Amino acid sequence: MFEFTILWTLIIAVLLAFLCFKRPSKVWQTINMRERETEPNLTNVAQDNEQRPDFWNLVRSRQPYDVFLVLDIEGTCELGSSFDYPNEIIEFPVCLMRWKDDRQRRELEVVDEFRSFVKPSWRPTLTRFCKELTGISQLQVDSAPSFMEVLQSVFQFLVAHGVLDEDSREPLLRFCWCSDGPYDIRDFVIKQCFISKIVVPDWLRGDALDVKKLVTNWSISQKYQGRKMKVMLSRNHPHRPSLNISSQLRVLGLPAFQGRKHSGIDDARNIARILSECARRNISLQPNTRIDSNRRWSWMGKSGQVLQGLIG
Ligand SMILES: *[C@@H]1O[C@H](CO)[C@@H](O)[C@H](O)[C@H]1NC(C)=O
Ligand SMILES: *[C@@H]1O[C@H](CO)[C@@H](O)[C@H](O)[C@H]1NC(C)=O
Ligand SMILES: *[C@@H]1O[C@H](CO)[C@@H](O)[C@H](O)[C@H]1NC(C)=O
Ligand SMILES: *[C@@H]1O[C@H](CO)[C@@H](O)[C@H](O)[C@H]1NC(C)=O
Repeated sequence: MFEFTILWTLIIAVLLAFLCFKRPSKVWQTINMRERETEPNLTNVAQDNEQRPDFWNLVRSRQPYDVFLVLDIEGTCELGSSFDYPNEIIEFPVCLMRWKDDRQRRELEVVDEFRSFVKPSWRPTLTRFCKELTGISQLQVDSAPSFMEVLQSVFQFLVAHGVLDEDSREPLLRFCWCSDGPYDIRDFVIKQCFISKIVVPDWLRGDALDVKKLVTNWSISQKYQGRKMKVMLSRNHPHRPSLNISSQLRVLGLPAFQGRKHSGIDDARNIARILSECARRNISLQPNTRIDSNRRWSWMGKSGQVLQGLIG
């Protein structure tokens, strides 16, 4: 009888202990469920993520570039001339952009600008069409340095910002050229280097981002989904939009174009605003176009000669 009582006491004690430990966990579960029903606090989520050791590596793999060089070249042109024309560079503006916080890589800002007009050599007199389009005067190009001199100044500008090493000319930071469309380096710089009889510097052949393509692509991915999006993104789709700078500003919800359109520096500043907004929206800024420094046009003769009869 005595042993029987001890047994029952033990069983009851075990049951009580079980209930006591179980209870708090039930309460905890209910609280947890209530929390999940409310909106997650994004500040806390971000802070939690930042504690994770691999978080900053993920940020870097999404935004691998330290510096963005926004370039918007203006070149000589004639009314009705095609992309085959031997354009010479007359304005070379660069907005140098860096991360406000290099670790977080969310806020991109212009830290300095380079701007120079360039004196053309093959056709030193600007057409009326070109002056009206770009707003650049004959006097501005007449008194400007040659392309070679301007390249040297751009190089010094990049050295001063720690982008390039002065002696080895090698990059010290990861940088990417950014333009509206693929033309600026792919066409204008390659043509000009041929006319100036110089080799395209290595630092101008690197990674390139076509901002127009980036924003157009992003805008399509916002508007369409699934198969329809894939079809719209395909390069040859007849209704694939091509957004000019003003339209890019609009789809990103930014204030309208500031300054004068087709002024190189004003275009570059507006492209910089677009790039900054893309970064803020967590769009990965990576190369999407190729620079081929060996590209040749039919009018290119021997050693920098422009063959008049072969201009398309
Ligand atoms: C989210 O958490 C942060 C940091 O703990 C706090 O400052 C902020 O007020 C919270 N926001 C909301 C909406 O609860
Ligand atoms: C276009 O956008 C889609 C979806 O955002 C992305 O998966 C794709 O890599 C992008 N393509 C290019 C060429 O940028
Ligand atoms: C940009 O595109 C919009 C919409 O297609 C058009 O209305 C506008 O005239 C264009 N702007 C320029 C400067 O070409
Ligand atoms: C940015 O986008 C990537 C890929 O879509 C995603 O994994 C990451 O969580 C996003 N970061 C923020 C802070 O929204």
